[in-house]
Amino acid sequence: MKSFGDALKDGSVKLRDYVERAAQTGALDDRLFAVDLSKADAVDAAEFFDRTELVKNLETLVRQVLRRVSQGSGNAVYLLDTVMGGGKSHTLVYLYLLFQKRSLANSRPELREILRDEELGGVPDAEVVVFDGMNADPSLPFEEQPNIARFFKDGGGKDDVARSIEAVGKPVVFLVDEVLAYLAKRKEMWVSDLAFIRTLAEAVADTANSVFVATVPSDTSNQEGYKRLVAAFKEIKRKAEPIHPQNPGEDFARIARKQIFKWVDGREAEEAAEWARRMLEREGYAVDEKRYAECYPFHPMLIKVFTERFAVYENFQKTREALKLLARMCARSKSLPYPFIGPGDVDLDERYLRDALTSANTFEIKNLSEIVSTDILPAKDDKRRALTALYLYSLYPKEEQRGLDRRDLFEALLPENGSASDLERLVKDYIRQEALYLEENKENGRFYFKEEVNIHALVRREAENIGDVTQELVKVVEEFSKEFGEHVSAAFDSSEVYPEKLNLVFAPLNTQGEHAAEEYADKRGFFGVDSRSANAVVVVYPSEDAGVAELEWALKQNTAVEVLKKRFKGKKHVLERLNEIGEEVRAEITAKFCSTYTSLLLFKDREMKHWRVQPRENTLQAYAEAVKQTLMEKQKAYFDPSKVNLELLFERLLGERSEVRVEDAYENIARSSTIPYLPRSVFAETLRLAVQNSIVGLADASQPTRLIHNLSGRGDGLLILSRERKAAIEQEEMTTATVEGSQGVESGGENKAPGQQKDVKGQGEPKSALRVKLTVSATALKKEDVRPAALFLEYAENAWRISREKDGDAFVEVKLSGNEGSARFKAVMDKVGKVKSFIEAFANAFEGEDHELTLSVNLREDLAKQVEEKMAGRMKLAREEV
Ligand SMILES: Nc1ncnc2c1ncn2[C@@H]1O[C@H](COP(=O)(O)OP(=O)(O)O)[C@@H](O)[C@H]1O
Ligand SMILES: [Mg+2]
Repeated sequence: MKSFGDALKDGSVKLRDYVERAAQTGALDDRLFAVDLSKADAVDAAEFFDRTELVKNLETLVRQVLRRVSQGSGNAVYLLDTVMGGGKSHTLVYLYLLFQKRSLANSRPELREILRDEELGGVPDAEVVVFDGMNADPSLPFEEQPNIARFFKDGGGKDDVARSIEAVGKPVVFLVDEVLAYLAKRKEMWVSDLAFIRTLAEAVADTANSVFVATVPSDTSNQEGYKRLVAAFKEIKRKAEPIHPQNPGEDFARIARKQIFKWVDGREAEEAAEWARRMLEREGYAVDEKRYAECYPFHPMLIKVFTERFAVYENFQKTREALKLLARMCARSKSLPYPFIGPGDVDLDERYLRDALTSANTFEIKNLSEIVSTDILPAKDDKRRALTALYLYSLYPKEEQRGLDRRDLFEALLPENGSASDLERLVKDYIRQEALYLEENKENGRFYFKEEVNIHALVRREAENIGDVTQELVKVVEEFSKEFGEHVSAAFDSSEVYPEKLNLVFAPLNTQGEHAAEEYADKRGFFGVDSRSANAVVVVYPSEDAGVAELEWALKQNTAVEVLKKRFKGKKHVLERLNEIGEEVRAEITAKFCSTYTSLLLFKDREMKHWRVQPRENTLQAYAEAVKQTLMEKQKAYFDPSKVNLELLFERLLGERSEVRVEDAYENIARSSTIPYLPRSVFAETLRLAVQNSIVGLADASQPTRLIHNLSGRGDGLLILSRERKAAIEQEEMTTATVEGSQGVESGGENKAPGQQKDVKGQGEPKSALRVKLTVSATALKKEDVRPAALFLEYAENAWRISREKDGDAFVEVKLSGNEGSARFKAVMDKVGKVKSFIEAFANAFEGEDHELTLSVNLREDLAKQVEEKMAGRMKLAREEV
């Protein structure tokens, strides 16, 4: 890729001397681009021919005029109307010089070619008559104007004038420019002036070989005058040839190149065009490579700014102004690192360019210089280029067509690195973070500069006026609280502590660093000697390296959004944008909050500890997870009972005591710093597990010698019993049970006929049903292995209890055998609970050892059957008739 700067250096392109001079001095003579027909004599004809691009219209007109003058063929009247591209006055001056400087004209190669085609030895001799309405004397009627009067002196009729023209003795070339300017100055006299102008044109049409060329600018601001002019020429229109530009965009590119460059190497142009194609194809965009070559070293999109966009503005002096601007742009681009001078490369620091491009008079858009100075000039490099291109494309009357979408922005800049999405991101970030006037049109994806401050900027401005973010933080933390779930209470800067939950107290933003956090905790009295819930509090404060300012800024913006929502109530469009921004800001708050409040201060083992949390990602869930995880890993707090070391916990809670009230134990948990903290509901769950696993016992405070096997609810009013204490009570119960059980079993044990029981117990009718013994056994005792056995017992007990006719002879027998001998224990069904405790106690004491448990229930056939059905598929029962 050869940059424009390099192309200048190696001579592949050469600037015209005046542009070169402008590059050095900064000054450019604006008269260079102002051609006045009345001053055509003062023009350096050689240079004029040199700087003229023979665009299609001009060439055609030149040929037609030459034919008319030499052979009298073709039209005599031409009406020139160019919108943009070929200049009208320039064309007239060209014709003027063609006939006035014939020998020079004859020597020009491009004219020699035309003359050869037209079979002319040279430009024919003709008289040139010029009328320049701009410089004409407005006090004189048209027919008395110095150059014109002679054709009207023998009468003002068409034929009189035609005769006067023929009397000259050679073809007369009338060149009429700026008629409207003249008529406008003539007040009510214009009617007769216009009639004489028409007469002159009609007379010329009647001559043998004279020609009349007038300009009729359709794009004038004086549309009324234009219509009159057109009406006046209406009758001769059949004889006249209106000349319209064919391809103004293309003509302009060529004209600009000709006017500004002495030389442009065609090969260089093609190579640059190929480079542009490669840049665009990288993103999969189609490209008109030929156009790039035609415009080189101008970027086609820069040309387009002038021909399709600025041209729409009445007060923009079309080609002339465009050339002035382009020449200055080129003068400022001598070290441009890109091959094409594009819309992003306009140096708005240059005074002339800036003034011209921010003119409210030209562009009818307010605030342009404010936009440039606040949103564009402070930006650098790539951003500056992007903004400049967007700015030039924002100068357009229709708002919905202002600016560039990401594709066109990419094409405007042709960046060697980075994608269209990168550019889009750059622009979007700028809108969000800095720009006052840049805006995105959501309908069509165009980024453009707008007269009014954009909504992001409004939010930022509003945010700057907001001092305190406490309320915002309170709300955010409330949101957080939900994420943490029922076991945690999260609050901002609060001294309220709930001992039954873990209290995350978020310290104010300025509480940064360990020292500040400890001072804060002191002030709040969280960890003081008289605190009853020191274990239940964790102070969360911003780490020293955290982006507190960014969090604060996001919070302020969020408040600002709310304020603005109220202000713009009812304005749907604004509210939609505010809602979008609100969402963005809230996401930012979450992210920043999670990365700011990452330090924990808590009380553990009688001292203050500082821990750091590191969320996997900056989302609420991950953050809440990380906080809980950290507290758990370091055994500060548990939220899941299955993670608690039950033995250790209850050992600490009981200490040397054999019992403790549940409430007291919990108070201890909330206060002590040597016990892991458990939320109240987690504690209840933990206690339940401990009872189930026979780590502790449970009894009602009013009946401390009777064990409770199942904890329901929180356990208020209950006692937690040490394992020893529990075992002692069980021992007691067991003895009673064995005595009762032996009696029961023995009574029916020897004589197995069920009928006989009736006599002993005196209960119900004799049962003819068989007695059946169901046996289940387990080896290598583990608590899990014992559980199904316990279930078996429960079913048996249930079947027995709910049967209409009690089986008074039913009994349970448990046999345990291991290396150290065996133990056997029997109980009547009323005392099955004791058997269960016995098994559990045994399983606990000998867990994992090679013991065999055999459990048999001696039941009446019908009940046994029920049990069998219940247990079907759960475990194998051996059946034996007795
Ligand atoms: N064919 C051309 N070749 C080179 N420059 C041209 C050509 N046509 C117009 N220009 C330049 O464009 C500018 C505007 O042309 P001008 O004739 O003044 O426009 P108009 O009279 O239509 O407003 C002038 O600076 C002129 O030199
Ligand atoms: Mg003009």
